[in-house]
Parts: sequence; structure tokens; C-alpha cells
Amino acid sequence: MCGITARVGTEDASESLVCSLENLEYRGYDSAGIAVKNGTGLKIQKREGEVSELKAAMAGSGIVGDVGIGHTRWSTHGPPTNENAHPHVDCSGRVAVVHNGIVENHAELRRDLEARGHTFRSDTDTEVVPHLVEERLDAGDDSETAFRAAIDELEGSYALAMLHEDADTVFATRTGSPLVLGIGEDANYLASDVPAFLEFTSRVVYLEDGDVAVLSADDYRITDADGFEVSRPVEAVDWAAEDAGKGEYDHYMLKEIHEQPTSLRQTIQGRLDGDDVVLSEFPAGSFSEVSRVHFVACGTSYHAGLYGESLFADWDVDAQTFLASEYAAHPPAVPEDTLVVGITQSGETADTLAALEAAADAGARTLALTNVVGSTAARECDDALFIRAGPEIGVAATKTFSSQVATLVCLGERIARDVTGSPTPDHAARLDALADLPEHVEAVLESSTAADVAARHAHESGHFFIGRGSAYAVALEAALKFKEITYEHAEGFAAGELKHGPLALVTADTPVFAICNGNNEAKLASNVREVQTRGGPVVGVCPRTSDALADAADEVLTVPATHPDLVAILANVQLQLVAYHAANDLGRPIDKPRNLAKSVTVE
Ligand code: G6P
Repeated sequence: MCGITARVGTEDASESLVCSLENLEYRGYDSAGIAVKNGTGLKIQKREGEVSELKAAMAGSGIVGDVGIGHTRWSTHGPPTNENAHPHVDCSGRVAVVHNGIVENHAELRRDLEARGHTFRSDTDTEVVPHLVEERLDAGDDSETAFRAAIDELEGSYALAMLHEDADTVFATRTGSPLVLGIGEDANYLASDVPAFLEFTSRVVYLEDGDVAVLSADDYRITDADGFEVSRPVEAVDWAAEDAGKGEYDHYMLKEIHEQPTSLRQTIQGRLDGDDVVLSEFPAGSFSEVSRVHFVACGTSYHAGLYGESLFADWDVDAQTFLASEYAAHPPAVPEDTLVVGITQSGETADTLAALEAAADAGARTLALTNVVGSTAARECDDALFIRAGPEIGVAATKTFSSQVATLVCLGERIARDVTGSPTPDHAARLDALADLPEHVEAVLESSTAADVAARHAHESGHFFIGRGSAYAVALEAALKFKEITYEHAEGFAAGELKHGPLALVTADTPVFAICNGNNEAKLASNVREVQTRGGPVVGVCPRTSDALADAADEVLTVPATHPDLVAILANVQLQLVAYHAANDLGRPIDKPRNLAKSVTVE
């Protein structure tokens, strides 16, 4: 959803800007561009397409400068063309701006600016900003005053960085879109997200909405929305640079699938204590006032919510999952004793933030369940609980799903004890199984035959995924993963619903993946027979002990036998691999599926 970055140092910034853009490419890959200042005016290079196109255009271009800004785009206003690529400049070419977000009043501002003689070169909402700055510079303002005056005119959400040919600094601000400073030894950085500059520094400063930052090579200054100088804490990020790289893998997605044993260990570390959970953020009694839980989320995080809902229901906790966009548009009744949990890997998804805001306005207590410390959700909710999965770069979420569910198991135990006054049924066995989950995922990764299954089924006309309870949540997640990276038709259904309509779609050319979490095995085996009777091939995804399903299915992907509440996480790992290998067989750009972005910061 667009990534912006900047570097101010004493050596050429262009190479490091391009490197930062590569690390931000998960936010959009429609076009990329940089602007640098080399003492003789601004130099700009921008290209439609991926950062690799920009990199090729940069080679031998002689574009160098110690101060620079960069952008990678996910188009909202105007098609992905060279003209619409950022940075955008004013009429005179003295001011360059990169932007993530949407300037909602751009049409009106543009009309007025054009009436006053400004010439626009792009269709973007962003281009109003350099022209607004230009007017103020012409009126005699210095660069910072002009920048402030320009942003005062904007409505909407934005993270902006600006370069002015007369200043050796970068000016930046955020309102509703993420922006973080990186404090280095020889240079200072800023970006939409930390992985952009992780190989240069791990010391970061998260900006607040309304802040204006002025970065120079050896210093930075932050003022708040009222113009008062403020001090924001410098925090150390404990992600390593190699965590944000591809390592030995061909794709981030495959790397992140294989990271799940490690990420799950991080998620549960220190949170299990015999037959109890320890959440340092939430001691016993933290949720005594809670009567019900609403999960609000999008995409994969929504499926983690559905998974959590199915578990919470078994533990006598009233929980319901909502698509965040619908929740924001039509908020349900939210009594004050409702805990609204925003599940969001990035902590920046606009729909989820809007739902959380609607919940807070209705008086509910809000909690962000997120991967990103310092994200908007983490900062704006009453509480935050981190899933600790490490950076996830692949657009298709994988390791964060399993860490979200594992975190929900811990959170659910805490809430259930506070709400019902007793531990959840079967808690000791479940928490033991949670401690073993990383090893079980390892076993799946070591023995999976998903690549063979994918090779047999990648080219078929439709792919269906069915399950019950937590396995239904995984059926939806597996179908999402499959469709987003293979571009093939895939749908997830509740296994019991198949006969109420979707069965009409089943043919010999539509494999059905039947996911068994160890519960209701006989019923699922009946659903499998219903499919086979219509000629559909069935792949069972089940624990080794599920003989009835294994016997019924045409082929099987097995997972270790463990507590039924956790089996579907393992089944999901198998199905992540099926989607990955099918997409690879089909030659798809796995880490950058068409039209999608990892972090969607517009509603
Ligand atoms: C986008 C991504 C999905 C992700 C969803 C929610 O649609 O492509 O992979 O699940 O956003 O993201 P979040 O960061 O809120 O979990």
C-alpha cells in the first residue's frame, strides 16, 4: 500500500534508497522512484513496474546525492505509469514529495491550484502537495514553514517525505499512515516500516500522528501538530537484518513457511507455565469485566479470528468474528463490557483501524493483537498483545497466521479464567500440545509431500477446501492462500454446507481438500464420500491417527497427532506448502501477487 523512505547522510544515498525500496516492495510494486539532492538541484529517477526496473534505469545514470527520498507504489489514484510514479514535483522542480495514503480533498485542492496557474503532470492525489509547498516558498516561507503550511491544507491519511533543493534535510510527517525514523551512525533514515532500513540501523523512533520530523545527517528534530518540539523515545528493534532477507530460499513465502517452528517458539516463549499461561501484559483478573469478545480483522487475520472464535466458544467465552470493513461500516451493538480485539499482522490495515475506532467510540475496550511493536493499532488501542513472529515480507501471510492462533490460545485461556472463574476444559493437555507445536510443525516441514500433491492438482479448474470448526477457518485460509498466489479458482466451505449448494460445482476436475482436526471425523468422512460419488478427487489433510478420513480420501497429507484445537494449524502448514508449490509450478510471482499488497492502508 505504498512504501516511502528517505536517507540523509554524508555519502551517496541512492544505492541505499533502492535497497530500502526493495525491502518495502511488499507494500506495492506498481512503480518505484527516488529523488536525490546533489548540490546542483534535484535528480529524479522513476519507473513503472517493480524496483528492479528502477534499479536497471539507475545503472550508469550518474544519479547521486547525499540526501534522498524514495517510493514504491500500490496505485490508488491513476494507473501505474511513469508519470504517476512518485516522487512528484512542483512546477519549478525544486520540491519533490513521496506519499503513502490518500489525500481526500485532492480534487478541490488541485482545481484551486490549477486556477492559480499550476501545471500538473500526473493523475495522483499526491501531486497537490509539492504545488502547495511551492506557493508558500514563493510567498517567502522557509522550507519547513512551507511544508507545515501545505500539510495543514490536507485531509485524509498520509505519510509524506519532502526534499527541497535549498535544504540539506528531509521533511516528513504522518497522519493516519505509518512512519518511523531510523537513527544511524553516519546517516538518518525514515520509512513506512522498519525492514526498509534494518540493515543500516535498528534504533528507531515511531512518530505520532501530526508530528513533523526534520532529518539531517547527524541529527533529527520532531515537532508535534501544534509546532512544539517533542521528544519521542528511541527504541531498539530486536529483528535482525537477515530476518528481513530471503536467505537460501527462492521466495520470502517459502522462507516464512519454514520459519514457523522458530516464530512459534518466539510466540509462546515465557507464556506457558505448566498448566497456566503467563501474559506479562495481562495478569489474572485483567479481563474480569469482560462479557464478550469481538474479533475484527481482514484477510488472513480474519481467518485467525474465526479459528479463535471456534476455540473460545468451547471455553464458554462469547466470541464473534467480524470483517473489519463491515464492522466499521455497520457497527453492531457494542456494550461496554465488550473486548474488541483487532487482529492485524501489520497493525496498519485501515479497515481494522476504522473498526477499532468505531468500537472505541462505542465505549468498548480495545486490544491490538499484532506483530508490529509501534504500529498504529498497538499505539491506539487500550492494550496490545504481540504475536512475536518476526518480520513477514511475503504478501501472502503464513507464519503470522500460526503465531496469531497460538497467541489467541494463550489469550483465550487468560480471558476464560477471568470470565468463568476456572481454567478451560482440557487446558493442561492443550497447553502441553502448544509447547510441542514448534516441533510438530518441524515434523510437517520435514516430511511433507505437498509438492507432489500440488503437481497433481495445480492445473485443475477449481480447488475446494472443507472443514468444521477450527478446520473450517483453515479451509477459508487455505483457499485464500491458494487463490491469491496461484490465480486459480479456490473456495473454502464449511464441510456441512457442501451439500447445500457448492456440491453442484464438484466434478472430476475439482479437487476437494478435506481438513480434519480430529473432531467430527465420521461426519467429514461422509462429506468425502459425497464428493467422491460425484467424481471429485479428495485430498485428506488430517492427523496420522485419523483412519476413517485417511481410508475415505484418495490421497492424504498427514500431520502429527496432537490436541484437536491445534491440529488445524498443522494442516494449514501443509496447505500453505500446497499453495506455494502449485503457484511455483504455474510460474506465478509468488511474493508479489498481482493487484495485491501486504499492508492495505486505505479503506
Ligand atoms: C492484506 C494482505 C493479507 C492480510 C490482510 C490483513 O489484504 O494481502 O495477507 O491478511 O491485508 O493484514 P493485517 O496486517 O491487518 O493482518
